[in-house]
Amino acid sequence: MEDNEKLKILILDDEKEFTEELSGFFKDSNILSYESNTVSEGRIILGNNIIDLFILDVRLPGASGLDILKEVKNKYPLMEVIIISAHGDMDTVIKAMRLGAFDYLRKPFRFIDIQIAIERTQKYIQLQRKLRQMEEKNSLISKNLEEKIDRHLIGVSPQILEVLEQAMTAASYPDASVLITGESGTGKENIARIIHHSSNRMENHFCTVNSSAITETLLESEFFGHKRGSFTGAIEDKMGFFEVCNKGTLFLDEIADMPFNLQAKILRAIEEKVITRVGDTKLIKTDFRIISATNHEIYERVENKKFRLDLLHRLNTLHIHIPPLRERPEDIEPLLIHFTDNFTTKFNKPPLEISKEVFSALRKYDFPGNVRELRNMSERAVMLGKGKVLGINDFMVKSLKHDLHVNENEDVIDLKTVEINAIRKSLRNSGYNQKAAADLLGITRNALIRKMQKYGIIVNKS
Ligand SMILES: Nc1ncnc2c1ncn2[C@@H]1O[C@H](COP(=O)(O)OP(=O)(O)OP(=O)(O)O)[C@@H](O)[C@H]1O
Ligand SMILES: [Mg+2]
Repeated sequence: MEDNEKLKILILDDEKEFTEELSGFFKDSNILSYESNTVSEGRIILGNNIIDLFILDVRLPGASGLDILKEVKNKYPLMEVIIISAHGDMDTVIKAMRLGAFDYLRKPFRFIDIQIAIERTQKYIQLQRKLRQMEEKNSLISKNLEEKIDRHLIGVSPQILEVLEQAMTAASYPDASVLITGESGTGKENIARIIHHSSNRMENHFCTVNSSAITETLLESEFFGHKRGSFTGAIEDKMGFFEVCNKGTLFLDEIADMPFNLQAKILRAIEEKVITRVGDTKLIKTDFRIISATNHEIYERVENKKFRLDLLHRLNTLHIHIPPLRERPEDIEPLLIHFTDNFTTKFNKPPLEISKEVFSALRKYDFPGNVRELRNMSERAVMLGKGKVLGINDFMVKSLKHDLHVNENEDVIDLKTVEINAIRKSLRNSGYNQKAAADLLGITRNALIRKMQKYGIIVNKS
């Protein structure tokens, strides 16, 4: 209920005269009242409307008012109930208050009594709503604070410096959509945050929505918000991320997994910057920037008709690709030093050195989990390491060494490795378009797919 909306009251009393009279009393006020004279009538009205306040006579013929009270408090936890009791029936009043009734009135009562009771209830309802909104806002603020802490971009390779430059360009165009691609753990979310916090949207929210995490209905309500009662579980009005991120940045993680049906709605919202909450008709203007990320083969999803090309075009006005860590080995050393320093501080350990052989071993490692994997290695080494120097045994690199890795310094390389590297490179250079990659290699697309299957090349792992 918004402040300017009417308070909705349901009256249930077996005396028709009484319900009519009470309803008449509310007629010119800011109250919309519904009357019912039997329990089943009352249930139907409750089922079809969102009632804020229920005025219930507990002495109904053939029904236990207390049982009804229990039932409705259970089913509609946010609805308040005022009971009407007989003079002298203090026992029922006490039981009703224990079951969650907000107030009681004794018959016969003056209308001024009911007016006061309703005003009190109304204030309480509004306070409760404010409290819930504040709690929602607070949890968003603390989430944003947390996010600000992990926001460094470490690296010295030309590739990462180029990524940083592209991120700064993106920050200077705060309305342009940005698509970030890269394998898992390469730092896509990190870059998205850096763009947000370097742009003129930094004072406002950065929200993350992961498209693969929840069902389509819930995801739609996450994006657009909903009106109370629009589906089971929608117990009150809720803002969606499009609204929460007004003047801020909305980060769409794992964009390739976005349910197809939702894609058209998202596209419209991005194009028009106007949304409506689920179950509502009111138009709401909102100004957000979209940064999306994917480690999936998004072009393949487009080819398979699982992702709309028009949406992809909307999302990738600017495109930033973060190369995997194995293609920029010079970043390993500064990253490892950075993470290790952080973890020694966090775990209250004295400063630790890292032996040279660790760096040279890590440079030969394939890092399928990219920077996240390196970070986890560092955390483990700091936790378990003994002494002042972390050595090769603290990193378990030998046992992790990837089969497919080629070291440029090695003299002997086999044909399989050459093919794998060529396929990966052509995919990367063609923006992960299989047809274009096949053309680069001078083979057919089907031949490329057969080779990829043979070597277990997953397209998102460049
Ligand atoms: N260049 C970097 N400098 C410092 N920290 C980094 C860098 N790149 C990644 N990280 C850190 O590595 C971890 C993984 O990064 P992030 O979560 O951004 O990856 P991601 O690409 O979103 O992964 P996923 O696809 O699995 O969601 C984070 O803790 C992040 O802070
Ligand atoms: Mg991520």
